[in-house]
Amino acid sequence: MSLLPKDLHGCPYLQLAPMEGVGDRCFRKAMASIGGFDEAVRDFLRVPRQAHIESLARQYTADEIAPIPLAAQLMGSELDLMASMAREMEKKGAPRIDLNCGCPSNTVTGKGAGSSLLKEPDFLHEVAKTIVQAVSIPVTLKMRSGFDDISLFRENLFAAQESGIRYLTLHPRTKADGYGPPARWDLIAEAKSLLKIPIVGNGDILTVEDALKMLKTTNCDALMIGRGSIINPFIFHQIKAHFSQNRYIPKWDDLIQYFHVYRSEVPAEIPDKTRVNKLKQLMSFFFKGSPALLEMRQTILTSQYSDPDSFMQFALPFLEKGWSLTH
Ligand SMILES: Cc1cc2nc3c(=O)[nH]c(=O)nc-3n(C[C@H](O)[C@H](O)[C@H](O)COP(=O)(O)O)c2cc1C
Repeated sequence: MSLLPKDLHGCPYLQLAPMEGVGDRCFRKAMASIGGFDEAVRDFLRVPRQAHIESLARQYTADEIAPIPLAAQLMGSELDLMASMAREMEKKGAPRIDLNCGCPSNTVTGKGAGSSLLKEPDFLHEVAKTIVQAVSIPVTLKMRSGFDDISLFRENLFAAQESGIRYLTLHPRTKADGYGPPARWDLIAEAKSLLKIPIVGNGDILTVEDALKMLKTTNCDALMIGRGSIINPFIFHQIKAHFSQNRYIPKWDDLIQYFHVYRSEVPAEIPDKTRVNKLKQLMSFFFKGSPALLEMRQTILTSQYSDPDSFMQFALPFLEKGWSLTH
């Protein structure tokens, strides 16, 4: 059976992207309260040299947003440790393991990990194959288009495919690009034409139109959306509705519920100030959704509330006004 099944109406499989720092457990829970996506990928679990596998593995909970599956993503390059961590994830019920070949962070020890793997296709192949051989659940890989440039793009694609992974997710920017230039969707089309395994297209999907355009111009098999879902948490439902020829009308109550779930999931031991900053971070994306909201965004971000209740009371009228301007 396909790991990326379309729905009854032909809508491609929709995934919520991993987003370390922003897209944490609170965000995934809040997104799950709205729904519309078929699967989420947890932000990476860094597997450093001398990692203590069992304590690291505690950070992953397979049924966090059940019944929506949550894949585990690993970032590292120490072969034995990556294999042990993968086995531990399988034991914990992970539906699949994704190898991170895109994170720009340089703080990983050992032979380099994340996007550094893109500098050495042979080594990327070895790390991926080690994980594939360590577990019986599906293994996949998420990569950028290169490290400094795209000179090894094709080699990396084939190295990934030949490792035995089940599919590849491509965010077509190099590590050097960061998030600057637009994602090169032509590279998703190229990957699709070169490889036999399915390709999940990712990068710069902000609207239903973007999603349809990516599908049409790249022929990719499924879609992954990150920042577009923080800006518009209803985007997955809207894409699905397009395929079923329904109109999806986002509800204000659902948005409020989303913020409440997010807030209630922030662990109690986190200081109030940090909670407020997390809420501000979430709202900063939401208020990027339209030029009409940008002015309010600034007011919210510079507000000086230090406890979450007062902050939410202050922010609610802005959210309401923003909602009425955009819906
Ligand atoms: C704050 C942030 C954190 C991210 N963390 C991860 C991560 O943990 N693992 C990963 O593979 N990609 C990570 N990414 C990349 C996203 O998954 C995605 O590939 C990228 O944002 C492009 O998709 P988008 O335009 O839909 O956001 C992160 C992106 C952002 C903005």
